[in-house]
Amino acid sequence: MSDSEVLFPVTEKQLNTGLRGIPVGTCRTSRVDPYEGVSYIGYPISEVAYRDPEDVAFLLLERRLPNSDEAAAFREELKARSGVDPRVLTFLKSLPKDGHPMSWLITGLNYMGMVSKTGDYVEDARNVIARAPELVAAIFRIREGWGDPIPPRPDLGLMENFVHMLGVPGGSTEQLTRLLRVFYVLHMDHGGGNLSTFTGKAVASGHADLYTSLGAAMAGLSGPLHGRANQDCLEFVKTVGSSDAADVERFVRNTLNSGGKIFGFGHAVLRAEDPRATVQYALGEQICGDDELFRTASVLREVAVRVLKEYPKISNPYPNVDAVSGSLLNASGLKDSNYYTVLFGLSRLSGIAAQIVDERTRFRGGKGVPIYRPKFIAEDQDPR
Ligand code: MLT
Repeated sequence: MSDSEVLFPVTEKQLNTGLRGIPVGTCRTSRVDPYEGVSYIGYPISEVAYRDPEDVAFLLLERRLPNSDEAAAFREELKARSGVDPRVLTFLKSLPKDGHPMSWLITGLNYMGMVSKTGDYVEDARNVIARAPELVAAIFRIREGWGDPIPPRPDLGLMENFVHMLGVPGGSTEQLTRLLRVFYVLHMDHGGGNLSTFTGKAVASGHADLYTSLGAAMAGLSGPLHGRANQDCLEFVKTVGSSDAADVERFVRNTLNSGGKIFGFGHAVLRAEDPRATVQYALGEQICGDDELFRTASVLREVAVRVLKEYPKISNPYPNVDAVSGSLLNASGLKDSNYYTVLFGLSRLSGIAAQIVDERTRFRGGKGVPIYRPKFIAEDQDPR
């Protein structure tokens, strides 16, 4: 069989390419345009980036922004739903400290499901959105030995409460809150085909409960080619070692000449600067403009793109969402990059939960999408 022979509806060349570009379903929460980037229910990400995280969670769940009464009611609802079962927090204390924080998140979500799932996708999605900040804050505190988990404060918003529960030793609460409100919104959703979302929906399609499905989704997110890229990006920015444009250019060229990778640049779908990166560069100028690592990341934005463009095989030389997020987190008091993917996951949980609710309870007249079962061709099999 030749490469171009059609295996309706895909060509043989498309086999074993990770389903790259092959449509397999519809996503109604967000859309990813290669040049414009992600939009949530029709709102370009730059338009919602500074909105209250609760309103954007509502947007993805309900497919519209709340009016002011609905926004207030949703905040109250999240507060009423908050409160992680104390058994989860006790259990976290038994986990090995050298386990990666993403392993803690996956394990914690599964444990949370065992003790508090309702089995109703809608209920569980709203509970997870309300409780995940407390779970993640407890992961930081227990794993880092910062002390016992700090109880939530019902008078605070979702991210304000998260920063309160983190209780970062010696950290500036105000700068971190400013950053995490935006970080949370930017990372919530990115179409239906990214690995974590696809995995979560696939697992839920077998009617696994939401917590198990989200645990699987987070396992997908934990790999260095997906969510863990933000951790590796900060380490990369650190190795550049200078924010001087000539030094940065020398570093980029040497890295490429020795077959190395420029972390934070390129994307599976995007073909222009990721608007989520654009928002973060602008925010960085406001909150940590003088920070040396942020300056390095900003110089890379110009230099790396220029150098990468010299390589015709590189289809996207532009910065993605991870290019600068780690530098911002580092400058705002969260120094340990091992935790960055957990922060990505905290946010992405809400988008994946919204997509699972949609696929399981609304698609196909409420029957839900059938169990995922794509076809794999055996080596000696006639593909048709
Ligand atoms: C992202 O947020 O950029 C992703 O989850 C990766 C992707 O879209 O494939």
